[in-house]
Amino acid sequence: MNTLFFVLCLVATGASHLVHGIQNTHKEDQELERQLKLLNKPPVKSIHTKFGYIVDCIDINKQPTFDYPLLKNHKLQKKPFHQKSRRKTNVTSSQTRSIFGLHKVQCPTGAVPIRRITKDDLIRNKLLLKNHVMTKEAPGYHYAQASLTPLAGPYYGVSGQNSVYNPKVQRKDQISASHLWVQNGPIHAVNKITFGWQVDPQLYGGDEGTYVYARWNGGCFNILCPGFVQIHKGYYLGALVTDTSIYGGTMVEYNLAIYQEQRTKDWWLRMGNENIGYFPAKLFTTMFSANIVGWGGSTRTPPGSPSPQMGSGYFPDDNFVHACYFRHVGFQNTSRQYYGPPKYTVNTYNDNPNCFGVEYYGDQKREVGYSLQFGGPGGNCGN
Ligand SMILES: *[C@@H]1O[C@H](CO)[C@@H](O)[C@H](O)[C@H]1NC(C)=O
Ligand SMILES: *[C@@H]1O[C@H](CO)[C@@H](O)[C@H](O)[C@H]1NC(C)=O
Repeated sequence: MNTLFFVLCLVATGASHLVHGIQNTHKEDQELERQLKLLNKPPVKSIHTKFGYIVDCIDINKQPTFDYPLLKNHKLQKKPFHQKSRRKTNVTSSQTRSIFGLHKVQCPTGAVPIRRITKDDLIRNKLLLKNHVMTKEAPGYHYAQASLTPLAGPYYGVSGQNSVYNPKVQRKDQISASHLWVQNGPIHAVNKITFGWQVDPQLYGGDEGTYVYARWNGGCFNILCPGFVQIHKGYYLGALVTDTSIYGGTMVEYNLAIYQEQRTKDWWLRMGNENIGYFPAKLFTTMFSANIVGWGGSTRTPPGSPSPQMGSGYFPDDNFVHACYFRHVGFQNTSRQYYGPPKYTVNTYNDNPNCFGVEYYGDQKREVGYSLQFGGPGGNCGN
């Protein structure tokens, strides 16, 4: 039972020699194989996607996340107990049952899709954990985002329709992401859930495509660390977005939400009308509610190298087929309804205006409502 926890410790501490000496010793190799066996549960069915990765359908009660000591006696929630009505807006693609341009599988009843972890994934993840120091001051990271001030909290949910792009990276070790998040707690012990899309070739087998992702408490991504409980039978974390938006042309957008289920306090991820799964309340020490929620983008590049694009690669200009956007954004307060945030409750943060921008517009009515844009071309943004 403690094995997966052990794996995590290894992942965190074993990073340095694996990184610098590509020559894994035989012993390390055996250790990796052992970890893989633990992480990849025997599948009910395997789906070999045409994108170069495998998705396994795993018995919903035997998903790897339940090896985590904290979740040992967790009672599986098959759906959110209580779902408040959402604000009614006219949404195009994202409110249909199929989420446009997102890879979907069909697992048999009682099984859920889990992206199979390869040995390379494991090695890369050790690297990533080492590189991803999740503080704003970390060299190589850039941000352009909008967040709600703690003054109008506490918060129980965040939502918005996010346009999906495929920003260009120049190297495999760069990242460009768009997401919404909820967080609480002091900087040294922050509890946080991030959900959105990203380009991160190191994480996705070298592929520069756009993938749906989530992470919690600044730990590793998707299901590489335990924590997330997969519920949906078709949509899964780490799925490829096969169609993305075209600047000035067709927009692909996903209706994203992170919200707390009131009875269990679990935090659910929703896309379109589909509940993908949840992070059990037990994982969190300070997030009984969120004191900050937000929307925006981030990039990462090795210190000293130029930053990749963020969003569509263009600055905000209030034209919603230009810069990447979140429209019809909402938050939940204690009344557990979604509200559009008034302008005075929103802070924007942008660490280098030459590279990226972020604008929160408030309620623009028309087809975008409460909305923001962010992104830019990147380049030499300093560290
Ligand atoms: C949705 O669109 C329909 C037809 O275009 C319109 O009649 C209706 O008022 C719209 N609803 C909202 C909530 O905007
Ligand atoms: C929740 O936020 C809305 C919109 O800002 C506000 O009108 C309402 O009073 C708030 N409710 C509570 C319980 O704080």
